[in-house]
Amino acid sequence: MKITVVGAGNVGATCADVLAYREIANEIVLVDIKEGLAEGKALDIWQKAPINQYDTRTIGSTNDYSKSAGSDVVVITSGLPRKPGMSRDDLIGTNAGIVKTVTENVIKHSPEAIIIVVSNPLDVMTYQAHLTSKLPRTRVMGMAGILDTARYRAFLAEAINVSPKEIQAVLMGGHGDTMVPLPRYTTVAGIPVTELIAADKLNAIIERTKTGGGELVKLMGTSAWYAPGAAAAQMAEAIVKDQKRVFPVCIKLEGEYGIDDCYLGVPVVLGKNGIEKVIELDLNKEEKAMLETSRQHVKEVMAVLEKLG
Ligand code: NAI
Ligand code: 2OP
Repeated sequence: MKITVVGAGNVGATCADVLAYREIANEIVLVDIKEGLAEGKALDIWQKAPINQYDTRTIGSTNDYSKSAGSDVVVITSGLPRKPGMSRDDLIGTNAGIVKTVTENVIKHSPEAIIIVVSNPLDVMTYQAHLTSKLPRTRVMGMAGILDTARYRAFLAEAINVSPKEIQAVLMGGHGDTMVPLPRYTTVAGIPVTELIAADKLNAIIERTKTGGGELVKLMGTSAWYAPGAAAAQMAEAIVKDQKRVFPVCIKLEGEYGIDDCYLGVPVVLGKNGIEKVIELDLNKEEKAMLETSRQHVKEVMAVLEKLG
């Protein structure tokens, strides 16, 4: 199996590192436009192999996509991250052009690849990659839901004082402040979360999750990378190992949840064919209303992309 990660910055390099040390593929190719960066990071990851005991080959390339040829999965992380005071949507002008060019190069050399988009604004960059690649919607997806759910699960684990391994949760919608955490579908080792935490504390955690990306941008001056890189690697793993894992993933909805023609995070089954099934939950009125708000927001940003042409 071969996985290419485009963008050797914070998220891309972290993703490549996780893919390598967990031996998720035999070969990992890192590509970046910045001269020498991908080669340097790939070499550094390779030199860690004797220490961490893995044999995944890691190769770097400055914008030469022939090295990525025949990839089974391609993770696109290229693009600007946000700075304090910026929203993810502020990145659209620059990142849409980057994601378009990158996708064209990816498809030229790996026409059979499954694409995982990470660049922001996530839902609309998934739209951009889908448009450019002309692949079926099940083969072009966005990573955000695993990250947002992980933040929610981590905050809950801390508040309830249990292992994060015990928290199972579903979160839907766009990757932004309109995301839709679903306490009704949140459990601690099978126990409904509402039995273990007071409503006001749970609500505070939900609000913190919605702005969880911004909290880190404020602290670091740039956006997060450890959890995002690991989340993208987890999606790639589910695909290359045909695991049939259930994750919230951004996909173009075509009628599911009564929504058409919009890129949103929903629970799906991930396997060797990409998104093998969209799981439709029976949302209540309030949850449907939150999903609708999220849909409207993503549609507005999709319209900006369409205007940019
Ligand atoms: P970064 O600045 O550390 O890395 C981005 C890399 O992309 C740089 O090395 C840059 O040289 C490269 N690049 C730019 N144009 C390129 C091109 N045309 N071809 C190849 N490489 C190119 O940024 P970071 O922190 O890695 O974030 C990357 C993107 O991921 C950002 O847009 C950020 O907002 C997004 N992100 C999304 C998350 C999500 O949940 N979906 C979570 C975290 C970040
Ligand atoms: C995050 O949520 C910036 O989208 C990125 O950390």
